[in-house]
Amino acid sequence: MAEANIFKRKSLDMLMAEASDTSEHGLKRALGPINLITLGIGAIIGAGIFVLTGEAAAQYTGPAIVLSYVLAGVACAFAGLCYAEFASMIPIAGSAYTYGYATLGEIIAWVIGWDLILEYAFGAATVASGWSSTLVAFLQDYGINIPPQICDVPGAKWAMFDGRWFPESALSMDQLAQATQHVTTSFNLVAFLAILAVTTILIVGIKESANFNTVVVFIKLFAVLTFIAVAGAFVFKHPDIARTNWATFLPANAGSFGSYGWSGVLRAAGVVFFAYIGFDAVSTAAQEAKNPQKDMPIGILGSLAICTVLYIVVSALLTMTVHYSRLNIGAPVSLAIRETGVRWGSYVVNAGALAGLSTVMLVMMLGQSRVFYSMAKDGLLWKWASDIHPKFRTPWKSTAIVGICVAFTGSLVPIGDLGQMVSIGTLMAFVIVCAGVLVMRKKRPDVNRPFRTPWVPFVPIMGMLVSFALMIGLNGKTWVRLVVWLIIGMIIYFGYGIKHSRVQRGEVVHVENPPSGDTYTASARKKP
Ligand code: ALA
Repeated sequence: MAEANIFKRKSLDMLMAEASDTSEHGLKRALGPINLITLGIGAIIGAGIFVLTGEAAAQYTGPAIVLSYVLAGVACAFAGLCYAEFASMIPIAGSAYTYGYATLGEIIAWVIGWDLILEYAFGAATVASGWSSTLVAFLQDYGINIPPQICDVPGAKWAMFDGRWFPESALSMDQLAQATQHVTTSFNLVAFLAILAVTTILIVGIKESANFNTVVVFIKLFAVLTFIAVAGAFVFKHPDIARTNWATFLPANAGSFGSYGWSGVLRAAGVVFFAYIGFDAVSTAAQEAKNPQKDMPIGILGSLAICTVLYIVVSALLTMTVHYSRLNIGAPVSLAIRETGVRWGSYVVNAGALAGLSTVMLVMMLGQSRVFYSMAKDGLLWKWASDIHPKFRTPWKSTAIVGICVAFTGSLVPIGDLGQMVSIGTLMAFVIVCAGVLVMRKKRPDVNRPFRTPWVPFVPIMGMLVSFALMIGLNGKTWVRLVVWLIIGMIIYFGYGIKHSRVQRGEVVHVENPPSGDTYTASARKKP
C-alpha cells in the first residue's frame, strides 16, 4: 500500500453508491416516516425526563428547570438541523462517523466512530441499569418482589423499608435507620437479560424491531400524556397550590456556581441534556429508510420537536404540583401524580417509565450495531462485523457482539460512572457533525441537499459552541476517561484500521443494484 494518509476522505460518490445498495447483502429499506419519528421518540424519552428532572429541579434550579429544558432543547435543535442535512444528503448507516469520513478525513471519522460507542453502547448499558431498578419498583406496586441481589451491580447496598426494597442511596438517614433488612447485590442479572432480549429482537429484523418500538413508544407516550392530563387538571382546580409552588420561579443563587440562580439553570441544562440524547440515533437507520432524502429530516427533527414540547410541559406541571425541594428522588413524576390523588396514575407512569427505558436500549443498540457495520464495511473494523444475516437482513454478528458487551457493562458497572461518558461522547459527535456541515458547504456546494440547514454558518457555529460549552461543564474525571478511551481507539486504528482501510487502498466499490447500473470508484466520479 502506498503511504497512508490519515486525513484521506471518502468520496461522496462512493457513499452515495453504497447508500443505493439494495441487494440481499445490504440492509433492508423498510422504514417510513412514522417509524422514524417513533424510533427517535423511542431513543429520546427515558431516564432523563422520568428521573433526572426531579433531581435537577431540587438541586440547581427550582421551577426554572423549565428554562433548562428550553436551553438544552435549543442546543439540540442546532445539532439536529445539521444532522438532518447530512442524513438526507448521505443516507448511510454510519451517521456522524460517515459524515466525518466525507468531510474531515479518516482519522477524524475513526475518532467519531469510536466515540459513538460512548453514546450508543454505554447509553444502552446506562439505561439497562436504570431499567432493572424501575422494574423492581414497578413489580413491587403489584406486591411482587424480585431478590435485589440480582438487580444491581456487584457490591451495591439495598435495604427493605416500609415493605419495599430500595437502593440505600435512595433512602434518607431516618429511613435507613428504620430499614428492616440489608443486602449487598451480586450481579445485575435483570439488566443482563433485558439487553439479551432486546438484542434478539434487533437480530430478528429491522421491521420487527421498529414495530416493537412503535407499540412500546405509544405506551410511554400514553403515560406522559396521562401525567399531563392529570397534573394539568389538578393545577387548573388548585391554582393556589401551583402559585405557591411557583412563588419563587428562579431561587437566588446560593453562593456557588450551579446552585440555583442563572448558573443553576446552565448546570441543569447540562444534566437534562441527557434527556434529549437519542434523536441523532435516527440517522443510523438512514440505510433502512424507504425514502431517506425526505424522511430523515422528518424523523430527526419531528421526534426532537415533539419531545421538547412534552419535556417543557411535564417539567412545568411537575414543579407546579410538587414543591421543587421535595423532588430529589428516583421517581419524581410518579410522586407528582400520586400527589394529585389519582393513585392509578402512578401505575401508568411507572409502566411508561419501564416502557420508555426499553425502547431507549433498543434504539441505542440499533445505532451501535449500524455504526460498527459501516466501519467494518470500510475496512476499519473486522469484516465479520458487516456480515448481514441472509434471512433477517440485519448485521447480526455486530448486533450480537454489541449485545453481549452491553449486557456485561450494564450489569457490572455503576450507572453514575456511565451517564456522564454518554453525554461527553454525544456532545463530541455533535461538534464534529456541525463542523462537517460547514466544511461540506464549502468543499461541495454543488451536491444536492434535499434538506438544507437554515442560517449557515450561524446554526452550525452555534451548535459547535453550545455543545462544546456543555462538554466543558462536565467534570474532570469524565474528560480523563474520554482521553483514555480515545487513546485506546488510536491504538486499534494504527494497529488494524489504517492497514485494512478500503479508502486508503483506493478500492473500487461494487454496488449490485446501483440506480444507473454503473460502478463507482473511491476517487473518481461516475465512470463513463
Ligand atoms: N434520552 C435518553 C434518556 O433520557 C437517553 O433515557
